[in-house]
Amino acid sequence: MSRRPLMAGNWKMHKTIEEAVQLANALKEALAKLNDRDALVCPPFTSLSSVSEILKGSSVFLGAQNMNDNVQGAFTGEVSPVMLKDAGCSFVILGHSERRQYYSETSALVNQKCRLALAQGLTPIVCVGEKLDERESGKTFDVIKTQTKESLNNLSSEQLKSTVIAYEPVWAIGTGKTATPAQAQEVHSFVRQLINETYGESVAASVRILYGGSVKPDNIDSLMAQPDIDGGLVGGASLKAGDFVRLVNFQVPCNC
Ligand code: 13P
Repeated sequence: MSRRPLMAGNWKMHKTIEEAVQLANALKEALAKLNDRDALVCPPFTSLSSVSEILKGSSVFLGAQNMNDNVQGAFTGEVSPVMLKDAGCSFVILGHSERRQYYSETSALVNQKCRLALAQGLTPIVCVGEKLDERESGKTFDVIKTQTKESLNNLSSEQLKSTVIAYEPVWAIGTGKTATPAQAQEVHSFVRQLINETYGESVAASVRILYGGSVKPDNIDSLMAQPDIDGGLVGGASLKAGDFVRLVNFQVPCNC
């Protein structure tokens, strides 16, 4: 089964509203027609509404970088999935390693958020990834297995099919140190195998798994040439229109 590639820009804590609007306008123009791939931008909460207005009617989707695990209530400083939908989002990034690391998010919480996002009609992008010491001590697959199983716990087949997974090795984020295409492929294929064991082949074959960690214009083509890499979750290189457009327009050598 062929999976539609998805290039997602995670703008993290960058860009004022004015800067976000400028970037969104540039992307809207450059990515006017996307026939065989999806593009997504995830600005900070403050810019969501303005960017949403610009992207209306374009082929670039809008997502958020996090959400609360409740629909509403007394949760000062938090943003609910209903508010994200209201602001024009169709995707939400969950369990990014920066949230796991700096805000103590556990896979159990990510799982709660994931199920609520799905119930509210948002497509979750659930992030997993090992730290450098975990990779160096040979624990990569154990860590990925635990994070994946716990974060996606109790999803139905239909829910999993509507979920995107992102493999982001923590040591590759913002460091300029990308996983080699072979290193990334090895983990992507492992994650797909995990899904296969629980949900069967057709679900496993349909779930998109993105790679994140120093994705740049000069490495995207070789990453996308890997059979289990279905797109990118991009930080730094998504902040410049030219770079992100190049990533969306990745080319893989034809085997035909
Ligand atoms: P960089 O592309 O800046 O390494 O960030 C990756 C990332 O964390 C995307 O979510």
